Amino acid sequence: MNYPILSFYKTLFKRAFILLFIITSSCKTQEQPREAEKERGLIAQKAMVVSAREEASQIGLSILKKGGNAFDAMVATEMSLAVSYPFAGNLGGGGFMVYRKSDGESGSLDYREKAPLKASKDMYLDEEGNVIPDKSTFGAMAVGVPGTVAGIFAVHEKFGSLPMKEILQPVIALANRGVVVTKKQAETLAKYREKIIKANNKDILFAKEFKAGDTIKNIALARTLQRIAENGRKEFYQGETGKMLVDYLSEKGGIISMEDLAQYKTFWRDPIKVEYKDLDIISMPPPSSGGIVLGQILKMAEPYPLKDYGHNSLKTIQVLTEAERRAYADRSFYLGDPDYVNIPTDTLLSDSYLNGRMDSFSFDKATPSSSLEHGEIAGYESNETTHYSIVDQFGNAIAATTTLNGAYGSKLYVDELGFFLNNEMNDFSIKPGFPNMFGLIGAEANSIEPGKKMLSSMTPTIVEKGDKLYMTLGSPGGSTIITSVLQTILNVSEFDMTMQEAVNAPRFHHQWLPDEILFEPKAFDAELLQELKDKRYNINESNSRIIGKVDAILRLPDGKLEGGADRRGDDSAAGF
Ligand code: DON
Repeated sequence: MNYPILSFYKTLFKRAFILLFIITSSCKTQEQPREAEKERGLIAQKAMVVSAREEASQIGLSILKKGGNAFDAMVATEMSLAVSYPFAGNLGGGGFMVYRKSDGESGSLDYREKAPLKASKDMYLDEEGNVIPDKSTFGAMAVGVPGTVAGIFAVHEKFGSLPMKEILQPVIALANRGVVVTKKQAETLAKYREKIIKANNKDILFAKEFKAGDTIKNIALARTLQRIAENGRKEFYQGETGKMLVDYLSEKGGIISMEDLAQYKTFWRDPIKVEYKDLDIISMPPPSSGGIVLGQILKMAEPYPLKDYGHNSLKTIQVLTEAERRAYADRSFYLGDPDYVNIPTDTLLSDSYLNGRMDSFSFDKATPSSSLEHGEIAGYESNETTHYSIVDQFGNAIAATTTLNGAYGSKLYVDELGFFLNNEMNDFSIKPGFPNMFGLIGAEANSIEPGKKMLSSMTPTIVEKGDKLYMTLGSPGGSTIITSVLQTILNVSEFDMTMQEAVNAPRFHHQWLPDEILFEPKAFDAELLQELKDKRYNINESNSRIIGKVDAILRLPDGKLEGGADRRGDDSAAGF
């Protein structure tokens, strides 16, 4: 039987249902892209290594697969980067590592280089007090006492589970077997070849013209690693390797002595811990500025609804830029080696201090850096890169950033030993107000003293959410390291990106001085940049500089791991 009234209600109900369906599904697509549309990095069930080179990630992973923990894998990855990525991976440099064990215990290791005992405050100035060009960046006088080998032994002694010889065996095999040159690597080698020859001579391994696809076998480095595997830390700091290193440096006019090597120390330090909304950030304390500056920026930005403003929107860029400007001004004045200067860490990270710092911020127009100095702290006495991330199958996490400072460091290469030496001395404030390689200006807190560690921006960082591991990340990029780490955390936590999307997203950077926002080229809308110019921001998009190269791991809600390997380089994630 046909009841017209019933069929009328049926049609009405059907239409209302269809309308409701359209509305809810369109809301869903606007607010939450469907899982299939998201770009994900490598997904692993249990364990992962993300680093600047596939060979290093694979060797780190092989250590985990044979039952080693994240600390064993760290040793293997760090040394594999020295073989496969001599641009920054090293035995002749130093670094920082932040860890979080599966039981929630966290800590950090400082294996930063230090000034030689014969260093002095004005060592890079001429008689008139002018900076001598290149002296702190190129050749033997630029070299700080290396910390990397001490770093791997400190980690292994405290947390390692496999014998050092077993961990180093695949690394030595890689150095003997050789590494295939990638296109990007061939370009950097060609770019720096003349300088490398000038610093050394034309007979060294890296004086050769390597092309993409060639294999670099580093037999000298394999032998050095073999001696270290057999004789331990003292091989580098007191033994034959140390002696060869010191002899080479003095032949080149350097001042590092056997005493410098013998006195080198690593430090286990309490990490910087900062709460940002529902996240706990664990990052590197001084002598890196990374943790404090990252924490300051996050705390200054916290009161602003960045999620509502939107990713890389005008308002988000303004808030982060102004917070960055203020934090980098503080960095310049207050931060240095904590064993030499008194750093008011608690105040610098306190809500009352940071709220006060943002008082002068307005959305109407930029705060000129010339009108802003470091904040005043009552009672303060002024007395004064490649990153890799690992999570193991036991739930331990590592964030480690290691560096020679510039590309191939000082360009000095000890051919007999198979590695480059850092030019980390340039990270000191070589003259008040004189910018370092990254345009950073320092003050008394970061002046040169014998044995002192130079201030860093390296920011290996681990993030917890609800007392569980959430993310481990870090980046190279000199002064832009901190802001790259910052944006990657916010991209995931505020802007709902996957780990890979967060790493891919275009970045910007401000560091107080120079007073400009650096943008990754061709990635930001011309209209947005014009709006910023209208508000008196200085824009630098012409530098064609990539900002950071982040390698990160995110723990997903189901416990799996997502890798974010930065495509700005040859970076690669490996997992199981
Ligand atoms: O410790 C620092 O902050 C610098 N030596 C890091 C250098 C760096 O990241 C170079 N990479 N682009």
